Amino acid sequence: MNSDTALNFQTLSQTCSHASLTSQKLRYWAEQIRPYWDETGSGSDIPLHRKIWEWAFIASALKDNGMLRPQAKGLGFGVGKEPLVSLFASLGCTIVATDQSFDSAQSAGWSQSNQFAGELKALNEKGLCDPALFEELVTFRTVDMRAIPQDLSGFDFTWSSCAFEHLGSISEGLKFVLDQMKCLRVGGIAVHTTEFNVSSNSDTITTGPTVLFRRRDIEDLARHLRHQGNLINLDFTLGATEADLHVDSPPWSGTHLRLKHDGYTITSFGLVIQKGQQRSTPPFLKLKLQLNRH
Ligand SMILES: C[S@@+](CC[C@H](N)C(=O)[O-])C[C@H]1O[C@@H](n2cnc3c(N)ncnc32)[C@H](O)[C@@H]1O
Repeated sequence: MNSDTALNFQTLSQTCSHASLTSQKLRYWAEQIRPYWDETGSGSDIPLHRKIWEWAFIASALKDNGMLRPQAKGLGFGVGKEPLVSLFASLGCTIVATDQSFDSAQSAGWSQSNQFAGELKALNEKGLCDPALFEELVTFRTVDMRAIPQDLSGFDFTWSSCAFEHLGSISEGLKFVLDQMKCLRVGGIAVHTTEFNVSSNSDTITTGPTVLFRRRDIEDLARHLRHQGNLINLDFTLGATEADLHVDSPPWSGTHLRLKHDGYTITSFGLVIQKGQQRSTPPFLKLKLQLNRH
């Protein structure tokens, strides 16, 4: 292993929290994407919203692990109209941005929800990246996260925000995280955010348009990732400030770190994984992971 691929990895996979969102690092990244949450340019303080946490957490974890630099190759899944594609390109990264087909997005309601780009230039609509640089560094591909094409390999980093809970079931979501590791070079970093069930480690939504991952699902996934040779460190500590404890519900308030979803309290969870030299998975673990799928 050369120095480029040496495993040196400390970032914790963690829940969204007030302390994390207001940390100096995440505030820096939230400011870099200000046009996405302060459309009128009011200069307001960063809202306590888990969506901003997800985007800032992904950027911060990638930066901490040396990924946001010129010539680094990144692969984004289910990118919708998020700011990260143009943000990463503005830092010189070469990006393959992917999302499902327009027809699939339309039938699932994403194209009507203003969360599906459908075309490349919509990914830089707020101008975070110089247009010529964006054109040079970013390509768009239609990719179904449930069937990742094999030629998408050798990337320095991968990411997704708020996407793998929408693949139909807990098992499809976990399968995506395992499959997308094949897109990375050894030493590469994956950062993915998703729904986390705060209220229960047993009852949850296991199938449907949005599923809710429990602590035990993430622990199973981590075991599997580690047995393949990858690194992941988990921290399930929940925030305990007034903003953390507020469970938002319609009509939504300005504080939106946790919310009610179909009777469950949820927040976001950010996974950070480093790819190691791959080992084959012992058969008993394959069986265990399948048994835990619903
Ligand atoms: C909640 S939106 C999030 C969009 C964006 N990542 C963001 O943070 O704003 C979910 C995204 O997942 C995409 N998606 C859902 N199912 C998918 C699939 N099977 N393959 C690829 N993308 C999918 C949707 O098209 C949409 O872009």
